[in-house]
Order: sequence, then structure tokens, then C-alpha cells
Amino acid sequence: MSTLWLMLITSLIIHRRNLAFAALVNVTVDDQGADPTSKYGFSFNPPWIIGQNCPGCEAKPDPKQAHGGTWSDITYDPSSPTRTIPQNATFDFTGSAIYVYGIQSQSTTNPVSEADTVFYIDGTRLGNYKFTPNSTGDAYTYNQLLFKAEGLGQASHVLQIQNGQIGGPISLTLLDYLVYSTYAYPYRIGLDFT
Ligand SMILES: *[C@@H]1O[C@H](CO)[C@@H](O)[C@H](O)[C@H]1NC(C)=O
Ligand SMILES: *[C@@H]1O[C@H](CO)[C@@H](O)[C@H](O)[C@H]1NC(C)=O
Ligand SMILES: *[C@@H]1O[C@H](CO)[C@@H](O)[C@H](O)[C@H]1NC(C)=O
Repeated sequence: MSTLWLMLITSLIIHRRNLAFAALVNVTVDDQGADPTSKYGFSFNPPWIIGQNCPGCEAKPDPKQAHGGTWSDITYDPSSPTRTIPQNATFDFTGSAIYVYGIQSQSTTNPVSEADTVFYIDGTRLGNYKFTPNSTGDAYTYNQLLFKAEGLGQASHVLQIQNGQIGGPISLTLLDYLVYSTYAYPYRIGLDFT
């Protein structure tokens, strides 16, 4: 066998190994669930309302259309004494991209569905989701992308979701789930996800 053949075969084997070992996968985490790879979920400060178990809440999306049948409901309202401090949700992950999804209520009145949600990665402000409602009736958009960050570099990161801003308008966030992308070993994914 010539040296050239040997080199070619060796490089093919190396490439096959790399392909087999490094896979970019998406991990989905429900607002009230846990990351299947770590068993940890969101941390809420203060606690957000368990949307699907809240008969008193004005926002009443269809649980069948919410991821996992759940969502977390929170309102910042500068005119309501108990709601004048922006509320937060944080999530720790190891990955290179993250996508946050909510349910967007369209109503101008019941509930007031304005949104002003700020997103931080590792303490740096990277996004501000704003929405102005335009409908008088009950109407919801499911799987609404609120924030995405890509090209973060495969490392551990902290996502902070902040509902409302001091000096800003009223803000309603209905948080449904997130997806993050991470490099993982296929054989480990098999263990983690079964
Ligand atoms: C992960 O999900 C995002 C958002 O849906 C998508 O753009 C991306 O292509 C997905 N990546 C993988 C590896 O499936
Ligand atoms: C939420 O985080 C912001 C900073 O991003 C902070 O000003 C605010 O006080 C926090 N809210 C709570 C309830 O801790
Ligand atoms: C209200 O907003 C939604 C979402 O942005 C849009 O799809 C819809 O066409 C708007 N409706 C009216 C009456 O402007």
C-alpha cells in the first residue's frame, strides 16, 4: 500500500470519528420542567404564577397549545403597588445558542397585553422583546419567539429574563419553554434522554 493511500485512509477514519463524536443537539426545557441533562429548571424571583392553574388570571391560553400544557404568568405594572419591581427568571445552561418562547396574548384589555421583556446572557443585555396589542377579544399566538442568541461559544452561560423595566410600560410575559443548542456525545445523549 502506498503512503498516499495510508494517509487517505487515516484521514477518513479521523473524520469519521469526529463526525461520530461531536453532535450539535437541541435541548428543550419547559417553563415548569427540568433540563433532561441536569435535572434543573428555571429559577423565578419572585415566584411567577402557575398559568395553567390560575382561574383568577386574565390570560387564559389553551393549555393544549402550550408546550407541556404549562406556562408561567407575570405582570409588571408601574401603577400597581405590588408589581412595580421587574420580575426575573434565570436558567443556567452549557451550550452555544438559546431560544426563548412564550405565548403572546393579543388583547388590549383583558389582560392588558403589552410586553417589554429584557434578556441578558451572562449579565449582558442582548435582547428586548416589545409587543403592543391590537385586539379586544381573546386571541393568543403560541410558540412566539421572544429571544434568541446564537454564536455564544460552547460554555456555561446564565440566561436572565426580566419582565418590565423601571420607568417602562406595563408588561405581561407568558413564558412557555426554551431550547438551547449544545455539543454532546451521541452515546451520552442516548443515556441522558432515555
Ligand atoms: C435548534 O433549534 C433552533 C430553533 O428552532 C434551530 O434554528 C436550530 O437549527 C436547531 N439546531 C439543531 C442542531 O437542531
Ligand atoms: C430583577 O433583576 C433586575 C436586574 O436585572 C433587578 O433590578 C430587579 O430588582 C430584580 N427583581 C427582583 C424581584 O429581584
Ligand atoms: C394584530 O397583531 C397581530 C400580531 O402582530 C397581527 O397578526 C394582526 O394582523 C393584527 N391585527 C390587526 C387588526 O391589526
